Amino acid sequence: MQLAKQLEVYPYYLPLTDSEGTVVRFGDQEVIMLGSNNYLGLTMHPKVREAAKAAIDRWGTSCTGSRLVNGTLDLHVELDRRLAAFVAKEAGLVFSTGYQTNLGTISALVGKGDFAIIDREDHASIVDGCLLARGTNQIGIKRFSHNDPDSLEDVLKRLPNDAGRLVVVDGVYSMAGDIAPLPEIVEICKRHGARIMVDDAHSLGVLGGGRGTAAHFDLTDEVDLIMGTFSKTFASIGGFIAGDPDVIEHIKHHGRAMMFSAALPAHNVATVLAVLDIMESEPEHVERLWENSEFMRAGFKKLGYDTGASTTPVIPVYFRDKAMLDRALANLPLPQGIGVPREGGGVRLDVALPARRGRVYQRRRPAGRAGHAGVAPHQLHGDAHESAPLQGARHL
Ligand SMILES: Cc1ncc(COP(=O)(O)O)c(C=O)c1O
Repeated sequence: MQLAKQLEVYPYYLPLTDSEGTVVRFGDQEVIMLGSNNYLGLTMHPKVREAAKAAIDRWGTSCTGSRLVNGTLDLHVELDRRLAAFVAKEAGLVFSTGYQTNLGTISALVGKGDFAIIDREDHASIVDGCLLARGTNQIGIKRFSHNDPDSLEDVLKRLPNDAGRLVVVDGVYSMAGDIAPLPEIVEICKRHGARIMVDDAHSLGVLGGGRGTAAHFDLTDEVDLIMGTFSKTFASIGGFIAGDPDVIEHIKHHGRAMMFSAALPAHNVATVLAVLDIMESEPEHVERLWENSEFMRAGFKKLGYDTGASTTPVIPVYFRDKAMLDRALANLPLPQGIGVPREGGGVRLDVALPARRGRVYQRRRPAGRAGHAGVAPHQLHGDAHESAPLQGARHL
């Protein structure tokens, strides 16, 4: 890490000096941001910003306490209800981050002698939720091969019939951009009496007209729990879980990440409510996101790049071939001498919905500087959330 810093190629924690959502500045460089999760580009939407400002004027800047004790506003209760309705579940519960939502939900629901069964590429917050449950409740944790229903079935077959089993999958995988095969997963879980939770962090605002993976497959009634974050499409921070009222009530009173952490500030809640209004009344945002994503994926393919199994706005670009990697790196704003990411590494791009498609492929040339492809350098990395960072610089 020190070496990367000395060579000025350390690609993390870069402070942006300005941002208009899809175009950002760091230092004197202006680049197109393809590494955010601002899928519908709503962080700068006038109605969203107005709603946040009005909430600060009415409620101030913090709830200064947990929802359990003094921090629940009527705005939180409204958002619990609106989100549940949005994903067609009976009850919802808003947490202060998406990370805490997974921690609080999994550790509240998976008890002693039960098993959490997770996809090998599930997000780190799901893994951490399982680890917390293992620490506090002595649960079993089993993993199955990524997006492989046969492997899931193999795992479930070996578990005791009387143990509680919660299968947790991401709806859209945030590194490969592929979708969980929910119809097969549901069928197997039903056969083995396992419950299903879908983390829709990258699916809300994207799949199923914006309503997520279960809606996309028309399987909402077959999925027990739907989880989402506000740090992506919802243009804020926070998270929620939705499901049966009894289950949500249990999480409310056993989820430590809910009970012992301060409530989401009013302006974040108001932001999400405003985004819901926009998504419910203006379906064109989701449609445009898909048009842009397909346009970009097709463009990469036409140029000969490998976008793997991605079928969503998360588009990885894999460099299996050194010449291809050299060609791509030559267009990145990196000093000479950066090494080759480890095998299988690549660049992951998230198509956020820009105001104009031109932004997706425009090559920007700040005055006096060489032009570069619009990719923030922190996008150069390997492939796993849980693995060590700095993979892109490992071979320096
Ligand atoms: C799949 C998934 N789940 C959960 C989270 C955690 O959400 P947050 O960053 O909003 O806490 C993320 C965030 O990166 C994610 O990608």
